[in-house]
Amino acid sequence: MKFFIDTANLEQIKKGIAMGMVDGVTTNPSLIAKENKPFEEILRDIVAVVDGPISAEVVSLEAEGMIEEAKVLAAMSDNIVIKIPMIMEGIKAVKQLTALGIKTNVTLIFSAAQALLAAKAGATYVSPFVGRLDDIGTPGMDLVSEIMSIFRIYGFQTEVIVASVRSPQHVMESAAIGADIATIPLKVIEQLAKHPLTDIGIEQFLSDWENRKK
Ligand code: E4P
Repeated sequence: MKFFIDTANLEQIKKGIAMGMVDGVTTNPSLIAKENKPFEEILRDIVAVVDGPISAEVVSLEAEGMIEEAKVLAAMSDNIVIKIPMIMEGIKAVKQLTALGIKTNVTLIFSAAQALLAAKAGATYVSPFVGRLDDIGTPGMDLVSEIMSIFRIYGFQTEVIVASVRSPQHVMESAAIGADIATIPLKVIEQLAKHPLTDIGIEQFLSDWENRKK
């Protein structure tokens, strides 16, 4: 299972890399807006440190505009993946970008029907948003299971990125389902390492070590 880090913040990305937990990066316009730097500069900085796919999202709502934006972004690095919103114009853009050899990540997926359309258009990745579904009382992980089973039946090459991850539980359920990738905020990556019994165990070992008969 691959871990992408879900941020546009270079310091967080570097921390994730130092842990050996960054197989790729996902950004979105909201994450980019937090950084107070031009979009291209943020992407160039990320490209310089990350050896893996980096999702950068277009903001046009028409296929033609999405394709123009995608060409500019994709020219920055072979690692750039174009994030396209799940609307019909987006699906049209994915079809054409796939034909041009440009990788795509169809984002804001909230149903298996949307994931099926994206896969049929040739998307490299689809991103079901589990946290936002949970927020409205619909189990997000059920959607991931449904998409994984449809993709397996038909042998689609499209990989599933579990997105809108809010907790270690989301990551572990993704792993149990066999999702290809989870894109995870740094805070949740750090939470994955924690267990109170580990902390108690370390404290006990160190205390016994200090008090040993020398
Ligand atoms: C990643 O591709 C998504 O844009 C991101 O996970 C959305 O997360 P959020 O629902 O916490 O904003």
